[in-house]
Amino acid sequence: MQPSRAREAGKAKSTPKTIVLGVTGSIAAYKAAELTSSLVKRGYSVHVVMTRAATKFITPLTLQTISRNPVHFEMFEPAKDWEIEHISLAQRADLVLVAPATANFICKLASGLADELLAATILATKAPVLIAPAMNAGMYENPIFQHQMKFLQSFGYFFVEPDTGRLACGASGRGRLADIPKIIHALEQVIYPANDFEKDLTGRRVLITAGPTREPLDPVRFLSNYSSGKMGFALAEAARKRGAEVILVSGPTNLEPPDAVELIAVQTAEEMFNAVVERFPGVDVVIKAAAVADFRPRVKAESKIKKQETLVLELERTPDILAYLGKHKKHQILVGFAAETERTLKNAEEKLSRKNLDLVVANDLTEEGAGFEGDTNIVTFLYPGGAAVSLPKMNKKELAGLILDEVAKLLTAKRDHFRN
Ligand code: PMT
Repeated sequence: MQPSRAREAGKAKSTPKTIVLGVTGSIAAYKAAELTSSLVKRGYSVHVVMTRAATKFITPLTLQTISRNPVHFEMFEPAKDWEIEHISLAQRADLVLVAPATANFICKLASGLADELLAATILATKAPVLIAPAMNAGMYENPIFQHQMKFLQSFGYFFVEPDTGRLACGASGRGRLADIPKIIHALEQVIYPANDFEKDLTGRRVLITAGPTREPLDPVRFLSNYSSGKMGFALAEAARKRGAEVILVSGPTNLEPPDAVELIAVQTAEEMFNAVVERFPGVDVVIKAAAVADFRPRVKAESKIKKQETLVLELERTPDILAYLGKHKKHQILVGFAAETERTLKNAEEKLSRKNLDLVVANDLTEEGAGFEGDTNIVTFLYPGGAAVSLPKMNKKELAGLILDEVAKLLTAKRDHFRN
């Protein structure tokens, strides 16, 4: 995030961005005054919508004075200019921010209810919606509430995680409204498109697999492949830089893991399967750059196998992780790789459809500069429906950026699909 670029981008526009600020009935509602003031100072046009409960904590007049715009809270207030209020606010918004958002209000949104102006505005808007929860720690951790929050996230709603600290109820824990700079930071990451800000994966949880797997034969030997992990690690670093929360499940590599990425080290395909499947329900995107062994010795010898003239190994299939994810995916975007040495595009297409992927990145291992170990790759993107885009040889870091551009587009398309 580069706030100076955000401000420049905002100032470059002839009309200021419109923020509809929803305030709900939390003790933290008083902080809406400072939030409104900070947004106005940054050049945003702020239109406050309050729930009835919010008006018990802070007066509409305060927020009206600070925002220099009328404050709305009545769904059926007499029309001033023949516009239905919640529709006009919904259409005018470049972003709807709800801060503070109570547990009750968030659960109401998850149910699609529109029984007062703020909920109706959010239901009607096509603008991004950013929610800053504030509540008691027990309520925030409650599995029902967590479930509703994840449900909203799966439809593209963004959240700013509350802070941990002393709460109004006297207890300590997570639930305090995030600091104003943190809320504005999140807002600016959401509101500015990828070209202005390379932070288009903010609020997204992305799971990336990397490296090879090792399938043990005896205590000192294993079956594996040449994957170095470079492609997967480049993806993890790029996704984190673009604002995503990244989980990197990696087989053994010699690489330094990128900063601020959750690294889960695995050895075998079975371990990778367990690590990925356990985390799958909580992520928005999975990119499987790992070269998972397709076979493993059916039996692992207890002690080192002795020298002999010939040795016949019996191999069995490992679990196909990506095929499992394809079968069980709900809201997630799934990106697979296909590493091929013959009939590359045909085989990759077959994987795209059999594994129910949103995108497959095909590398032809016979091409110089493609595939394992090196710093470069040469790939073709294949999409369901038959479209294909072939890319020239490029550095794996550069390619990671292009793959994430596709992921960002797929996430936006999915969100718009659910909204329309
Ligand atoms: O690590 P590097 O040295 O940088 O090399 C990068 C790479 C060549 C490993 C990478 O670009 C790549 O192509 N990764 C996938 C290699 C592979 O295993 O391809 P596949 O065609 O066998 O598998 C297809 C897809 O299914 C892959 O996304 C793979 O992760 C997944 N798979 C495969 C087998 C299995 N049991 N479970 C899986 O999930």
